Amino acid sequence: MNTEKMFGQLGASAVTTLTIRRPDDWHVHLRDGDMMKAVLPFTTSQFARAVVMPNLTPPITTVAAARAYRDRILAARPEGSDFTPLMTCYLTEETSADEVETGFQEGVWVACKLYPVGATTNSSHGVTDLARIGPVLERMERIGMPVLIHGEATDPAVDIFDRESFFIENSLQRLIKRHQGLKIVLEHVTTVEGVAIVRENATRMAATITPHHLVLNRTSLFQGGLRPNFYCLPVAKREHHRQALRRAAVSGEPCFFLGTDSAPHLREAKQAECCSAGIFCGPTALQTYAQVFDEEDSLCRLESFASCNGPSFYGLPVNHDTITLHRRRDLSDRSLQVGRSEVAKFRGGEWLAWSIGEVSE
Ligand code: DOR
Ligand code: ZN
Repeated sequence: MNTEKMFGQLGASAVTTLTIRRPDDWHVHLRDGDMMKAVLPFTTSQFARAVVMPNLTPPITTVAAARAYRDRILAARPEGSDFTPLMTCYLTEETSADEVETGFQEGVWVACKLYPVGATTNSSHGVTDLARIGPVLERMERIGMPVLIHGEATDPAVDIFDRESFFIENSLQRLIKRHQGLKIVLEHVTTVEGVAIVRENATRMAATITPHHLVLNRTSLFQGGLRPNFYCLPVAKREHHRQALRRAAVSGEPCFFLGTDSAPHLREAKQAECCSAGIFCGPTALQTYAQVFDEEDSLCRLESFASCNGPSFYGLPVNHDTITLHRRRDLSDRSLQVGRSEVAKFRGGEWLAWSIGEVSE
């Protein structure tokens, strides 16, 4: 499994089969109820573990709620699956430092998720002013618990394509200075500025990168008409930002790792007067990452990005089983039935260049 060495000898284009350590998804929305039951198998078939976002209604703000949600996920796993959900705590201005620490010490949650109020789906209980959660962040810093940040400014006067860079400049920089030991993940990074601030603080900061932000730019949202299924937050940016994300992902640098942000919404919520933000990329995530690494001539570093950098940041062991990917065209189906409705799959109806093979011990 020394993939660097293997490619050194063979040349990447000769590679038709790639076996890597089993990856993890460091950012996913599994939802609840029927939706969770429908989408979960796409995560468990690819990933050994996943960091589960807490933006349910109501949000997961207590240790008890996180335990109960974790139990529902465990009960919904497909037969024989050993998938481990890693839970998160939704930070509000009322969150107590003791509750956060209790859940962390008891191994219920691995991190807190920080949503600026109004930034995205179910973020109305989020934070209006970072100073208000100072004591909680201080405690997290002390106990080594990471904060996972949805890094977008929410002032409606800020142009939507500038929301990440504005947040970095006006909020994140200050937070980084104020909490010098806090472990931070800039979730679903989308900009040159995001990549840069993560690199500057790489000893204790990281970013997740989604498959869709590696293949879409803001023009893709309007290709031939308005594409609701490409709308997510943060919204895809200009092409040079996408190129910077691709370079970061394939660089092998430990501060960049896989996080799909797979976020399913029913068709009625996407094809609505006001379309919900979120892309259901779970079913084609690993295939898309493999394709991007292949296009960038960097398949030898897919394992670092997908399977090693995340565990190392979170202080968890890497997985010992493996997954095999094949350079073999595979037609992805368009949608997933959920109750009487359906969820459109990202890249549904497309021929994918890579397909997923076996998982082995
Ligand atoms: O596009 C998004 N969808 N971005 C988020 O931050 C949340 C997510 C969701 O929950 O639907
Ligand atoms: Zn998300």
